[in-house]
Parts: sequence; structure tokens; C-alpha cells
Amino acid sequence: LDNGLALTPPMGWLSWERFRCNIDCKKDPKNCISENLYVEMADMMVFKGYKQYGYQYVNIDDCWSEMSRDSNGTLVADRERFPRGIKWLADYVHFRGLKLGIYGDVGIKTCGGYPGSLNYYQKDAQTFAEWGVDMVKLDGCYASMSDMATGYPQMSYYLNQTGRPILYSCSWPAYQVEARIVPDYKKIASYCNIWRNYKDVQDSWDSVEDIMDFYANNSGHFAEVARPGQFNDPDMLIVGDYGLSYGQQTIQMSIWAILAAPMMISADLRNMKEESKDLLQNEMLLRISQDMYGIQGKRIIKDGNVEVWTKQMGINAKAVAFAFLNVGTDGTPVEVSYQFSRLGLTEAEGYNVTNVLEEKFFGVLRPTDYVNVTVYPTSAWLGYADFDC
Ligand code: DGJ
Repeated sequence: LDNGLALTPPMGWLSWERFRCNIDCKKDPKNCISENLYVEMADMMVFKGYKQYGYQYVNIDDCWSEMSRDSNGTLVADRERFPRGIKWLADYVHFRGLKLGIYGDVGIKTCGGYPGSLNYYQKDAQTFAEWGVDMVKLDGCYASMSDMATGYPQMSYYLNQTGRPILYSCSWPAYQVEARIVPDYKKIASYCNIWRNYKDVQDSWDSVEDIMDFYANNSGHFAEVARPGQFNDPDMLIVGDYGLSYGQQTIQMSIWAILAAPMMISADLRNMKEESKDLLQNEMLLRISQDMYGIQGKRIIKDGNVEVWTKQMGINAKAVAFAFLNVGTDGTPVEVSYQFSRLGLTEAEGYNVTNVLEEKFFGVLRPTDYVNVTVYPTSAWLGYADFDC
């Protein structure tokens, strides 16, 4: 979507995977979907350094509203859980130098059963803009395929009409893929800044691996559509949650960076292990993610448990980020050895190679040289080959 937003993959925080539809603030006041949760996450984004590394959006997901609209048909935030309303929250988040995202649904109800935007696209776009919202994720529950075909473009139009820059995230293709319809990605990209292609991420390695395989297969050729302003969204980062080992977290981070995917953390920033925080704040990894060309990388080799993914980037898109993955869960490290030219690194003068996860210089390699590294079980080895010479 050509609205000047998402020129690089958006970065931020989104409540869904970690906090779900927990609305019981009596029993669980610290973790329920409430004003307090987003205030605390905005604070953490600043005080724990995330903002400084480019994480910007603080995003509300499902279950934030009252069960019905007010007498004017306007959406209202839950009066107990958001006592000061969304406008107040947007002001607070802006005061922290961050942006606020909200969630809606193209159909009659959200997945959680709250009011959807069907028949209210213009009204809701206006309301979101008046509140000072900076991003809208529009889900696709309780909608037919034809509701989606009209609703997603209409919401795009009305958001644009508000005059407020609002990043637009669509779940449209994810619902089409689920219904075995091949999405028209060019069309979707003309209406949406980012879009979900596939299933929801869950807090497990199985889920992350399944999503990665879907992206590797690239059925429907969505990778080719990615560029500044329009990115595929493999869903949230679960780095810092319960389900992934540290090695598996390096895989998710490396592959999401290579895929030019939105980097939306869904974890509790208030108590995050230091190693996960450092990974989320790895400067060179984020440079790979935020490369200005916005090219979506690909899996180029799958050889048993070893996978190789690459992404062109940097000066003239001649630099390359590459990840070696050991996706084996048998606990055995593997030695990988590939000739550099096989990774698409063909400049005869050679490249300065960095070991990104360890943040250290690896060596100078020419196309005929071999890169030999050990990759630990369910871990990534992420490299950056800079053509700056
Ligand atoms: C389905 C979406 O894909 C999830 O990311 C989340 O927004 C839930 N719906 C909320 O109900």
C-alpha cells in the first residue's frame, strides 16, 4: 500500500500470542487485556531499550472493546479495563515516543466475539483516527470471502480518507489460504501494508517450523511481492516466551529478518531473560531485517536437517545475509561447509563476513572459498557478507 508507511518491516509489540483474550482483571490484574498492560509495555519499550533499537508500535489485539457499540454506533473500549479510553492510551504511548496499534475485524464480529466492522468501515476508520491510532490490524473472522473482497479494500480507502497515517495490516490472505483459495497478492499489496499469509503462531517450535516451511514453499509467489510499503507477515515473534529454546529463538529471529517480516514481539517485556532481550536487540540482525530494499529472502537449500536461507541486501543489493539452520531435534551439532558462490556470493573481490549472532568478524571470503561452521541442534548460524569493498 503506497501510503508512505512500512517502508521497512514494522517493529513493535503485539499482545495476542502472550496475553490472548485474558479479560479477568480481578484474578490476573497484571496480565489481563487492559490499559495497564499497554502502559507497562510502552514503559518497558523505552526503559529496556527496545525503542532505541527501532521497536515502535505498541499494539492492542482482540478483546479490548465493550460487547456492543454505543447508541451512536461507535466502538467503545471496555469501560472497566480501559477506564480512560483509547484516546488517552494513544496520548500516553505518543508521549513515550511510540505509536499505538489497534485491532478490528472485517466481519460481523471479531474472533473473540466483540463487535466487528462490517457495515461500519467508515465510522470505525474515523473513530480510530480521532483516537490517534497509528496502525490497524483487521482480522477476518465472521466474514464471508465476498465480505473480505469488499471489506478489506473499503477499510483501506476509509483509513486513507481520514488523513491520518495509519499502517494497515490485513489477515485476508490467511483466511483465503485456509479456504484453499490462491490469494491475489498483487491486489492485496495494493490495499494493505502488511498481511498475514498463514496460521497463527503458537508458542512452540513446531509452530515456528511449520510457518517457516510455508514461507519456504512460497506457494502463490508471495515472496516476490514484498518491497517497501508491502510485506508478508509470518506472525509474531515468540522470542522471550516459554516455548522455544535459545537456539530456536535464534532461528526465529534470523529467519524473520531474512524474510523482511514485521518484527512484532509477543512476550512479556517486564520479565524477559537477558539472552532473549539481547537477541531482540541484536543491532546487525535488525539491520538485516530493516534493509532499505525490503527484499524477502528465501530458503535456497534443504538438505536433511540443514537449511540455507539467503537475502540480498546492502549496497546495490550485492551484500547477502545468510542463515545456516540445523532443524534437527536429535541434539547433534552438524558441520556445514558450502562454497560461497553457492549462496549467490559471486563478487570476485570477496566479502567481509560477520558472525551476526556472536557479533564478531568472521573473515574475508571469496566466491571459491568454503564457509565451514558448526551449527548446534535447532539453532541458527547467521552471517552477513558485506560487499563494501
Ligand atoms: C486470529 C488472528 O490471526 C490472531 O493473530 C489474533 O488476532 C486472533 N484472531 C484474535 O482473536
